[in-house]
Amino acid sequence: MILLVNGPNLNLLGEREPEVYGSTTLPDIEKMVEEACAAYGQSVKAIQSNYEGALLDFLQENRREAKGVIINPGALSHTSRALHDCLKALPCPSVEVHISNVHAREAWRRRDLVAPATRGQVVGLGATGYYFAAVWLCSQLGEQSAGEEAPEAVDLPPADLEPVVGGDYEG
Ligand code: DQA
Repeated sequence: MILLVNGPNLNLLGEREPEVYGSTTLPDIEKMVEEACAAYGQSVKAIQSNYEGALLDFLQENRREAKGVIINPGALSHTSRALHDCLKALPCPSVEVHISNVHAREAWRRRDLVAPATRGQVVGLGATGYYFAAVWLCSQLGEQSAGEEAPEAVDLPPADLEPVVGGDYEG
C-alpha cells in the first residue's frame, strides 16, 4: 500500500492560484496516483488535511502497512520539524512532491525542513510530479520482488502548467 498525503490548502487545487498550481484537482491527482500504483499491484490510501497533527496521526497509524509515501506537505514543508521526524520514523521510503518550483518563488519557500527526511523530491513539474513519485516508489518495490512481469505502461497525464519562473528569486 502506498500512502498519498497532501497538506494544507491542497484541497483547493484547481481553483487555488491556477497560474501557479494548474487546473488539476486533488480528486484528479488521487485517481492518477491510484491508476499508476494499480499498474504495479499497489493500492493507495490518501489523506488531505489542513491540520499537521492529522497528517502525523495518519502516517503513524499506517506505518506498518505502508510500502511508500508520496507527500506534498504544502506550506508545512517550510515549517514542520514534526513532519520531518515522523517521516524519519517510518520504515518505508517517502518522496516529496511540489507542484510549483519552490526554488523560483519567494525566498522562504526555498527552505524545506521535510526534504532531508525523504528519499527525494519531484519539484516544479506540476501535478505530473505525483505520477513520477508513484512510479518511482512502485518500481523500487518491483525490484524487491524480482521475477514478476513488468506492469503495462500508464499514459502520462498532460502537463497543464507553465513553468513558474522569475518571482522574487535573485539567485
Ligand atoms: C506547494 C508549495 C508550497 O510552498 C506551498 O505552500 C503549497 C504548495 C506546491 O505543491 O508547489 O501549498 O507545496
